[in-house]
Amino acid sequence: MAFVSSGYNPDKPMEDRITDIGNHHYGEFLPPVIKNNFGKWQWHEILEPGVLMHKAEGGDEVYTVRVGGMRLMSVEFAREICEIADKHCDGYVRFTTRNNIEFMVDSKDKVEPLKQDLMSRKMEGGSYKFPIGGTGAGLTNIIHTQGWIHCHTPATDASGTVKVVMDELFEEFQNMRLPAQLRISMACCLNMCGAVHCSDIAILGYHRKPPMIDDEFLDNLCEIPLAIAACPTAAIKPKKKEITSERTGEKKEVKSVEINVEKCMYCGNCYTMCPSLPLANAEGDGIVLMAGGKVSNRISAPKFSKVVVAFIPNEPPRWPTLAKTIRQIVEAYEKNARKYERLGEWAERIGWEKFFEVTGLEFSHHLIDDFRDPAYYTWRQTSNFKFTEGMNDYAAIKAE
Ligand code: HEM
Ligand code: HEM
Ligand code: SF4
Ligand code: SF4
Repeated sequence: MAFVSSGYNPDKPMEDRITDIGNHHYGEFLPPVIKNNFGKWQWHEILEPGVLMHKAEGGDEVYTVRVGGMRLMSVEFAREICEIADKHCDGYVRFTTRNNIEFMVDSKDKVEPLKQDLMSRKMEGGSYKFPIGGTGAGLTNIIHTQGWIHCHTPATDASGTVKVVMDELFEEFQNMRLPAQLRISMACCLNMCGAVHCSDIAILGYHRKPPMIDDEFLDNLCEIPLAIAACPTAAIKPKKKEITSERTGEKKEVKSVEINVEKCMYCGNCYTMCPSLPLANAEGDGIVLMAGGKVSNRISAPKFSKVVVAFIPNEPPRWPTLAKTIRQIVEAYEKNARKYERLGEWAERIGWEKFFEVTGLEFSHHLIDDFRDPAYYTWRQTSNFKFTEGMNDYAAIKAE
């Protein structure tokens, strides 16, 4: 065992260690009631949207109040979370994978004061600072990536798009009236740090133009072989070029690269390696919507989402087309799906061509080929995929 040969003794984890680098044992952070009942939990229920109760063998109970959080928060906000945790929860608090914040208390009489306190805290504009909800058959927090605020390759913003969609669907966060859970996720480029491909609805940033080449500075800023190696489609090759310097007007020969635009799939990998190959572009960049994925094993196996809207332009700061399109999908799902059916299960039951009819989304040829995996494994694998009356777009495809 690697552990043993490296001198690590699992019985005495701190033995001979000279730093405290690395995770603390999670057990240090468990609220006492969770620690005391470790492995002895029997059942749980959702008492109302945002409030869960877990019951242990010996009768102990944990009441959890879940509130929407965010991925980027100010120090003041983090302090406020701690203050609430100190006041109501003996200093314990937890975050879910979807950045919800969970305040846990060990008896029922502590729930109401906690809820009142949370509801009373408002943003300057009047909205809830700690909106309660995100459980059960509703919308939970939208997990997202970094967007324009931090990353270098985004094709759209993350926090901005998520904020407008959450505003649009806020009531679904506070209620549990959808057929089943609705997971929406967001990633701002195809690198997909958000792993959005298995959510009910995925918002995905998408570039549509190849990188620009800054010939004059490329050799100063980049390792050319590294940029070439970064390209998954081998679209980049080295190229000596004659250029006129933008600064001095002097003509000179530089080492640069050439991009075979036919091969480029606008992934941005080269830009990650080489800052002289930027591909952000106001017209080229935008959003793709995918739908129908899920992680859960309930009813049917986990599935990947499929591209359902090939392009939505970037419309900061409020992305109205994005918000409207997502609402359209959610409303059709809410109205038509059976109880417990996830969005993808519903679409599969009625047939994806019907999904386009019912949601009013346009089926275009872009949906067939743009994304190899979903297209390859889904649309194309069955001869049952048919255009029906509602698919008048078919005529447009044939005419092209
Ligand atoms: C290897 C271990 C784990 C993996 C791979 C994992 C994976 C995931 C994934 C993929 C989701 C999102 C599912 C979706 O939204 O469709 C999720 C949600 C969640 N996980 Fe885990 N998880 C693990 C362990 C745990 C543990 C140990 C806990 C709690 C002690 C936990 C608590 C949660 C909760 C509460 C959510 C829902 C969060 C929300 O919707 O707000 N997970 N997990
Ligand atoms: C015998 C023990 C337990 C069982 C059988 C159990 C079972 C379940 C089931 C069936 C779900 C719903 C999954 C779905 O909707 O697809 C769920 C959700 C959840 N459970 Fe448990 N659970 C247990 C213990 C716990 C404990 C000890 C905790 C935390 C202290 C916990 C936290 C959660 C959370 C946060 C959710 C997600 C609720 C939501 O998003 O609606 N569970 N659990
Ligand atoms: S999804 Fe892409 S653009 Fe967004 S944070 Fe991740 S790597 Fe950066
Ligand atoms: S954007 Fe991607 S496919 Fe296009 S040249 Fe760069 S690395 Fe290659």
